[in-house]
Amino acid sequence: MPTTPLRDRASWKALERHHAEISGRHLRELFAEDPGRGERMSAEAAGLYLDYSKNRVTGETLNLLNDLARESELEQRRDLMFGGERINTSEKRSVLHVALRMPRDAELVVDGADVVAEVHEVLDRMAEFARHVRSGQWKGHTGKPIRNIVNIGIGGSDLGPVMAYEALRHYSKRDLNFRFVSNVDSTDFAEATHDLFADETLFIVSSKTFGTLETLTNAHSAREWVVAQLGTDEAVARHFVAVSTNAERVAEFGIDTANMFGFWDWVGGRYSMDSAIGLSTMLAIGPEHFGEMLAGFHEMDEHFRTAPLAENLPVIMGLLSVWYVNFFGVQSVGVMPYEQYLKRFPAYLQQLTMESNGKHVTHDGAVVGYDTAPVYWGEPGTNGQHSFYQLLHQGTRLIPVDLIGFGKSLNPLGDHHDLLMANVFAQAQALAFGKTEEEVRAEGTADDVVPHRVMEGNRPTNVLLAERLTPQMLGVLVALYEHIVFVQGTIWGIDSFDQWGVELGKVLAGQIAPELMSDEEPELAHDSSTDTLIRRYRGLK
Ligand code: F6P
Repeated sequence: MPTTPLRDRASWKALERHHAEISGRHLRELFAEDPGRGERMSAEAAGLYLDYSKNRVTGETLNLLNDLARESELEQRRDLMFGGERINTSEKRSVLHVALRMPRDAELVVDGADVVAEVHEVLDRMAEFARHVRSGQWKGHTGKPIRNIVNIGIGGSDLGPVMAYEALRHYSKRDLNFRFVSNVDSTDFAEATHDLFADETLFIVSSKTFGTLETLTNAHSAREWVVAQLGTDEAVARHFVAVSTNAERVAEFGIDTANMFGFWDWVGGRYSMDSAIGLSTMLAIGPEHFGEMLAGFHEMDEHFRTAPLAENLPVIMGLLSVWYVNFFGVQSVGVMPYEQYLKRFPAYLQQLTMESNGKHVTHDGAVVGYDTAPVYWGEPGTNGQHSFYQLLHQGTRLIPVDLIGFGKSLNPLGDHHDLLMANVFAQAQALAFGKTEEEVRAEGTADDVVPHRVMEGNRPTNVLLAERLTPQMLGVLVALYEHIVFVQGTIWGIDSFDQWGVELGKVLAGQIAPELMSDEEPELAHDSSTDTLIRRYRGLK
């Protein structure tokens, strides 16, 4: 770790001075002065093209940001991650999601074990199981093949599987039905199962710890649902499999560990969609497509590991977000996929980015004294345009946006795709260049309406463009954002791989739950607000 605190680094101070000089400059001027900017400020890797020219930066900004990366020892820390060092300092763990997609012939020895060999052993078991289920060889308790697959999990054990299923639905086996249950709200389980029959339904209980309240509650309800319909506990063996790092708890729950797919404590929950947590994805798209997705992840990993900083997509995008958050005071970042299949991608990114970098102390426990993760959010285009884009264009906040588009639709229909993509390019244009008062007046606008129609512009975007959404490209995109998070976390000097902030709420809910359930009036000793709410709730239930 660099010894100089972030804000005392020479590159940080240079960026502060530079920001004072250029923050008032408009993208209109930057483009007028430098017509080659649109072509030059671009980078490409693994079939993904990034246009970052519509950012409020000059060549000098980029050089200074790269200096900051170097002074923050980004490359060294990246190499430590790829080497299996315990860079998750507060949990003293390695951070090795990159090992989940290393090819079979690679080798990475950590604590005396070749983790790549272990990864492929599990992948092979998953593939065998997926082939059995997909071909109908795996039979339910009454001898029927499986038609419905319900993943039970939450957080990283849900968001990745749901996002990937939706993203790759085009490649999925359409005669298998996929459902995802995450919320402890019983409506989630009830709606997911209301039209299913237990004799043709397989539950995947996905939980790294196998100790998460929501998942265990849903898994118990699922077991009761199966046993009630099929009349015997013996049915559990054919209708439940588990994905976890905790074999003991899986066995305690009653799932045969022969039907368990493992992973390791060096895979963070939000970095686990390409581990066995992706079993539902593999069941949907098949082992071959799953392998293509892993290859896409690995291509982006290799790009991140080897490309020079100035050409490195995750480095460029990560540093740009630092530039906006720490120098422009940006509070949120939008990610808008112009691809309906990526409708859950923003939700997935919310856990990845905010659970990772929503931290207020550095590795050594000092309060940071600067902003860390912005709020990530988004919706697929063009829907958002008819909803919140007004604020992006004319609101008082600066919100950088990533726009993601593809050259080809997976469901071509008339002019739809050209119209969709025209909107990607038009939004980036409108956000950057806006509309001046002169332009508005020249259109014959009445004086009193002119101020309402002026669009300031100077609002930054990144445009990401690929040929089409494939399993490989999904892997590329997810790995891109994983590494963006890594770049940000390294600059901010925080542990992007722990999540202590979620614990207190879990503990308090554990204390309150018995007070809600008890038949006797409980003795309450919380604060007066919590006590009153508990009494009100008890009166309502
Ligand atoms: O509560 C947060 C969290 O620990 C996430 O980090 C994780 O993805 C999720 O809960 C689910 O955890 P598990 O897979 O252990 O059930």
